[in-house]
Amino acid sequence: MTKILNVHNLEKSYSSGSKQLTVLHDITFDVEEKETFAIVGPSGSGKTTLLGLCAGLDRPDTGSIELCGTELSSLSEDERAVLRNQKVGFVFQDFQLLPTLTALENVAVPLELQGAKDASEAAKVLLEKVGLGGRFDHYPSQLSGGEQQRVAVARAFSNRPSILFADEPTGNLDAETGERIIELLFNLNREAGTTLVIVTHDLDLAKMTQRILRLKGGKIMETNEQQ
Ligand SMILES: Nc1ncnc2c1ncn2[C@@H]1O[C@H](COP(=O)(O)OP(=O)(O)OP(=O)(O)O)[C@@H](O)[C@H]1O
Ligand SMILES: [Mg+2]
Repeated sequence: MTKILNVHNLEKSYSSGSKQLTVLHDITFDVEEKETFAIVGPSGSGKTTLLGLCAGLDRPDTGSIELCGTELSSLSEDERAVLRNQKVGFVFQDFQLLPTLTALENVAVPLELQGAKDASEAAKVLLEKVGLGGRFDHYPSQLSGGEQQRVAVARAFSNRPSILFADEPTGNLDAETGERIIELLFNLNREAGTTLVIVTHDLDLAKMTQRILRLKGGKIMETNEQQ
């Protein structure tokens, strides 16, 4: 089996004022190509921090991360951005939509960056899939929290990523809309072979994945294979 993500002895601290706070201790795990993988744990246990490191959005203090066959520490910031653009999708816990762009533009921009000619058409199809066919021209401030989350999911799909990191992708959604998003994520896995790494508080969602990693206080408690 090929590993798409290989994390070894990761440590990460944040300094606030004169205090140093270690938020991830000795994290080692890997994810196989096409696998579906969940990360669960209490608030503050380091899930978002870990996801950001794995996706190359931030750098660890020590340890190594190999993503899509490339050791991230060997890349410059620009090279990491190129890798992310080509291979990685990311749904942020706080969405991080660009406020001056419409829903359609937010989804189309990653496609345009890749040189796609039909970026706008493809973005429309994605927004329709997440049930936002009627919101193309809305700005993020004109959308509800759940609608912004769905734009963020559509944007994360837009570059047809090899691996998709999703931080609480259903956190702001009602049960029905949440199920629709979950179905989209797992369809992407089945149809395009996209690896899914999902941070969630929703144990039903976690149970749908092949393996669950449990974090507590920045440490791995266990990694469970699902039946
Ligand atoms: N930029 C930062 N500077 C200082 N401390 C930070 C920073 N980002 C996160 N932390 C701290 O790191 C710890 C882990 O944060 P993280 O966001 O990874 O947790 P989480 O598991 O995603 O929590 P939640 O479930 O609430 O989203 C927290 O104690 C947080 O206060
Ligand atoms: Mg978080």
